[in-house]
Amino acid sequence: MPHACSFFTKTKKNTEKPIAHSQRERREKNMAKSQDQNKAFGWAANDKSGVLSPFHFSRRENGENDVTVKILFCGVCHSDLHTIKNDWGFSRYPIIPGHEIVGIATKVGKNVTKFKEGDRVGVGVIIGSCQSCESCNQDLENYCPQLVYTYNSSSSDGTRNQGGYSDKIVVDQRFVLRFPDGLPSDSGAPLLCAGITVYSPMKYYGMTEEKGKHLGVNGLGGLGHIAVKIGKAFGLKVTVISRSSEKESEAIDRLGADSFLVTTDSQKMKDAIGTMDFVLDTVSAQHSLLPLFSLLKVNGKLVALGLPEKPLELPIFPLVLGRKMVGGSQIGGMKETQEMLDFCAKHNIVADIELIKMSDINSAMDRLTKSDVRYRFVIDVANSINSALSHI
Ligand SMILES: NC(=O)c1ccc[n+]([C@@H]2O[C@H](COP(=O)([O-])OP(=O)(O)OC[C@H]3O[C@@H](n4cnc5c(N)ncnc54)[C@H](OP(=O)(O)O)[C@@H]3O)[C@@H](O)[C@H]2O)c1
Ligand SMILES: [Zn+2]
Ligand SMILES: [Zn+2]
Repeated sequence: MPHACSFFTKTKKNTEKPIAHSQRERREKNMAKSQDQNKAFGWAANDKSGVLSPFHFSRRENGENDVTVKILFCGVCHSDLHTIKNDWGFSRYPIIPGHEIVGIATKVGKNVTKFKEGDRVGVGVIIGSCQSCESCNQDLENYCPQLVYTYNSSSSDGTRNQGGYSDKIVVDQRFVLRFPDGLPSDSGAPLLCAGITVYSPMKYYGMTEEKGKHLGVNGLGGLGHIAVKIGKAFGLKVTVISRSSEKESEAIDRLGADSFLVTTDSQKMKDAIGTMDFVLDTVSAQHSLLPLFSLLKVNGKLVALGLPEKPLELPIFPLVLGRKMVGGSQIGGMKETQEMLDFCAKHNIVADIELIKMSDINSAMDRLTKSDVRYRFVIDVANSINSALSHI
């Protein structure tokens, strides 16, 4: 009778020989080793309270086209906050947020040509797209109907993707960015979402074609403060539009804005009517568009970047009577994101950050809700995630 175990092989004399035991052991050992290597650890939200807590999960095996990244730093974007609170209604828990990731490549698949182990790399908001649609063919993977977000999304095999508030991530090389030497890993991390989100519309909507055009930046948060720096590097005149005068001196003295407009100062708002060529609207909550249309010149363009949970009202009269335009923009394609990183390295543009430990994330989220951060929290992932691990 043949041995029940299929790992046993038969000799010519039909005697069963247990040589394959060692093969089986080796295979099992290898499986255990690779499972061990796939083990990952992060901080996840489990429901719409948005409270983040330690979470064990698995990353996929590093495939032929993949890069495994040991995460060093991860920025905290307001989109992370919207997602963990289910503001947009499509959150699927548990969710590890984080899409402003800088780290070190620790493993590369055999087809990976762009990176080698030890390289400093970045991962942003997207980790997949179809690679064959009209958008993908124009390097606009960010508008691919099948784009895969870094977290709160599923891969084609159905596994849930988790973001950068974690120790490592495995990403197809096409969605990994070279992180330029000149950029610091911590304050450079926010460029991977906030940076490209403001850079791309400046180029697409014609803000960079002629020097000296007037740009209004509505909301001085993570996106807004980088918009000021990139706008100035493009030679624009930049005015910050904010709810109070709290950030005025910083905006002008530190970030380099030309002027500052407080939305509640009705006289100054009146004086500024019809003075701006463009407005980038980065506000994360519901607000009125009417004052922003008033600030625009004839033919002026308002570009919506912020993603409030409820629709905004569109005032038709100022739009029609001033031949004004309203558009939107979502991050940027991979090629343009690389271009933006190189541009920021060249112009010494980084975010103003407050570096936090992983275990500080819940209080940081509370502060972000109140716009109490100058101007981006960045998690020191590699130096603080394991201390959280030892406490569970
Ligand atoms: N389009 C994209 O691809 C993309 C990419 C990333 C993020 N986003 C979205 O962009 C928005 C901003 O993200 P962020 O990370 O820059 O957020 P953030 O750091 O919180 O900045 C948002 C700013 O908006 C202003 N603001 C907040 N609440 C307001 C309110 N109730 N009324 C008026 N102004 C208010 C504040 O500026 P002041 O204090 O100066 O008034 C605040 O600093 C979020 O909705 C985010 O989801 C979009
Ligand atoms: Zn973001
Ligand atoms: Zn596509």
